[in-house]
Amino acid sequence: MPQSDTHYDVIVLGAGGAGLLCAATAGQRGRRVLLIDHAPEAGRKIVISGGGRCNFTNIHTAPDRYISANPHFAKSALGRYTPSDFLALIERHRIAWHEKTLGQLFCDGSARQVVAMLLDECAAGGVDIRLDHPITAIDHADALYRVTHGARTAAAPALVIATGGPSIPKMGATGFAYDLARRFGLKVVEPRPALVPLTLGGEDVLFRSLSGVSTEVIAHSGKTAFREAALLTHRGLSGPAILQISSYWRHGEVIALDFLPDRPDGWLIDAKRHKPRATLAQSLRAHLPDRLADALGERLALSGDLANLPDRKLAEAERRLARWSFTPNGTEGYAKAEVTSGGIATDGLSSRTMEARKMPGLYAIGEAVDVTGWLGGYNFQWAWASGWAAGQAV
Ligand code: FDA
Repeated sequence: MPQSDTHYDVIVLGAGGAGLLCAATAGQRGRRVLLIDHAPEAGRKIVISGGGRCNFTNIHTAPDRYISANPHFAKSALGRYTPSDFLALIERHRIAWHEKTLGQLFCDGSARQVVAMLLDECAAGGVDIRLDHPITAIDHADALYRVTHGARTAAAPALVIATGGPSIPKMGATGFAYDLARRFGLKVVEPRPALVPLTLGGEDVLFRSLSGVSTEVIAHSGKTAFREAALLTHRGLSGPAILQISSYWRHGEVIALDFLPDRPDGWLIDAKRHKPRATLAQSLRAHLPDRLADALGERLALSGDLANLPDRKLAEAERRLARWSFTPNGTEGYAKAEVTSGGIATDGLSSRTMEARKMPGLYAIGEAVDVTGWLGGYNFQWAWASGWAAGQAV
């Protein structure tokens, strides 16, 4: 038999980065907060993030580094809770950190320190945390949200959806946020795996034999481009440049890789003047890993010394190397996606408080919402910023 309701000011569903920061913020404002998660441990994705060191923010955070049907939505929250705010918290808890590259801040020690910090902040706000508690029912009546979890029922005038997206289901990730949002009249932008390796088939399959080869490229999809490392895998393409571009790629579209981003126009014709006896593959080996240079040389099918190749053919080879086209046949899916793009539509939410416009007291934050950051600490910054915005409002 369910016990009678326990009353709170706020119930937060999901003890990931967004839910923990929201609960701590609201608790420290004097709100009575209940935080519920079905997983046995809080902040599991924080623990595995950044190779166990958690890339907890990016100092270059700006709204244009986020994908959303409404590119303006994230501005307010990101502007009010910034990377410096989170860094101040990290420093207050004496967590040593360093900048790795491209503004990415990581713990020197372990990502577990970030989880411990957030749990301490929740404790400071008197937050009740119930882990390992599957949610069995949610109702709304008389301006109260009633959440049944196991044999208990709790009620509050505010309910925060912070249950993330479905990427990495084996860690307890679900599409629960979307079902709940739809039930309360919010729309959901079609969710898709993002920051995810791409798979190759057809003619491109030959590149799969180069598994393990990595090189710096510029990856293009439409007008978007990222310069970082690409990694060839036994299933297709991965590495930071590919993960970044995957968030923009749609089925059936081409992605183009510039394999030689530092070579100036006309470099192969120059090479012909300076080293006429070299082959194309030999010239490529000076700038690329050997196996990749040989494979590209073979596919360009220009045999013999550079001296015997017409400038026109060399210029054409250069153009292909700068825009090598792949048509991925898919992605490695939610099992390998670092995040989910799409999610609860922002047009139904206030960008200042994250509250549903037509459902007073209902809030949505973090990855559950249709705001997806680039690789490199941007997604946690969104989790903190949106969590803080709701934590201030509830
Ligand atoms: P998050 O998914 O973290 O939390 C949701 C919580 O809700 C979970 O605790 C889950 O158990 C719970 N939940 C789900 N369904 C539920 C249900 N039905 N009932 C109850 N509870 C439920 N980002 C970044 O900025 N820097 C990085 O270094 C990395 N690294 C990284 C590595 C890997 C391997 C992954 C998969 C992802 C990253 N990310 C990242 C992305 C980052 O982890 C992600 O954007 C945030 O964790 C999102 O935080 P949320 O709190 O919104 O969701």
